[in-house]
Amino acid sequence: MAGKITISIIKADVGGFVGHGDVHPALIETAEERLAGAKADGLLVDYRVGKAGDDTSLIMTHDKGVDAEPVHKFAWDTFLAMTEAAKKYKQYGAGQDLLSEAFSGNVRGMGPGVAEMEIEERPSDPIICFLADKTEPGAWNYPLFKIFADPFNTAGLVIDPKMTDGFSFEVQDLIKKRTVMLSCPADYYALLMFIGAPSRFVIKHVFRNIDDLICAATSTQRLSLLAGRYVGKDDPVMIVRAQSGLPAVGEVLEPFAMPYLVSGWMRGSHHGPLMPCSFRYSHPTRFDGPPRVTAYGFQLADGQLVGPRDMFDDPAFDRARAKCNEVTDYIRRHGPFEPHRLGLDEMEYTTMPKLMERLEDRFSPTEE
Ligand code: F6R
Ligand code: MG
Ligand code: MG
Repeated sequence: MAGKITISIIKADVGGFVGHGDVHPALIETAEERLAGAKADGLLVDYRVGKAGDDTSLIMTHDKGVDAEPVHKFAWDTFLAMTEAAKKYKQYGAGQDLLSEAFSGNVRGMGPGVAEMEIEERPSDPIICFLADKTEPGAWNYPLFKIFADPFNTAGLVIDPKMTDGFSFEVQDLIKKRTVMLSCPADYYALLMFIGAPSRFVIKHVFRNIDDLICAATSTQRLSLLAGRYVGKDDPVMIVRAQSGLPAVGEVLEPFAMPYLVSGWMRGSHHGPLMPCSFRYSHPTRFDGPPRVTAYGFQLADGQLVGPRDMFDDPAFDRARAKCNEVTDYIRRHGPFEPHRLGLDEMEYTTMPKLMERLEDRFSPTEE
């Protein structure tokens, strides 16, 4: 197929089954039906429905570019239709991520998360869509750094001439709402300075330095910052391209062998290890967790999504999952104490201000 193709993941939690743990099949059916219609009408080239915990991802290919109003409007209307199904079955928190009354232009800032990239499809273009639950967009900082900047993770950074010039990272400051481009290896340390604080700085896109090829895109919405009140964590998604002058599929998956700590989990207020899961196990249970990530692998074929392959359905990740359970046992024993519970600055974006307000009168100045 000549021309460009856009890969869009637009995701939302529009009701949990049971509690905040999974998505009811009726909601998935609603999404499937609508997506099939959009494909038949020519809006979409192809689609798949993905899920992680209580979040549904509409994985779509089309030729409308990023931020395309018809695609975003379609996703928004799909989440509305799913919300109706959620209400019918009294699913928990029906419509929880749809923060606006009405659609205006695109879904950014309205609740759903979005990761999109417009690409020139390569002769063979493997992509991996990562979907996470019970965590936040900054959760992608660690693996993206490992994949595209760490030669101890990605042998290609040392061995493949197309990669030795490195990669550039577009980093967003979620608080000050500004963006900086940092290029590795030159800005290696500066990049770590920022992305090591994943609740504030998040990697939005990654580009290959020799030709500016787009390699990765993430969702960066933070619902708590959007809504001005606690509405849960943002359960992010990410698209990564692989192979042939980019990190290999195995190099893209490798960082998840280490169940690194993320924030999210119970009430969006705890640190915990990110567990790489097969589709079958991508629904959090224990203490509403631990946070999960699942990986949908596709080969693109003229915009068709050939797949998915369930990339974490492999005993090679068993040790990561076992370690995750071990860390879970340990960190859970801290109960409401930091660093299991998030620090106070992070709690500012949750229910902390309300609780503080209630006790305000009982404070008096401390005697020196
Ligand atoms: C975290 C999450 C859950 C809920 C928890 C309380 O992102 O979705 O851990 O925060 O189950 O939920 P509510 O307040 O709805 O009872
Ligand atoms: Mg939920
Ligand atoms: Mg969720």
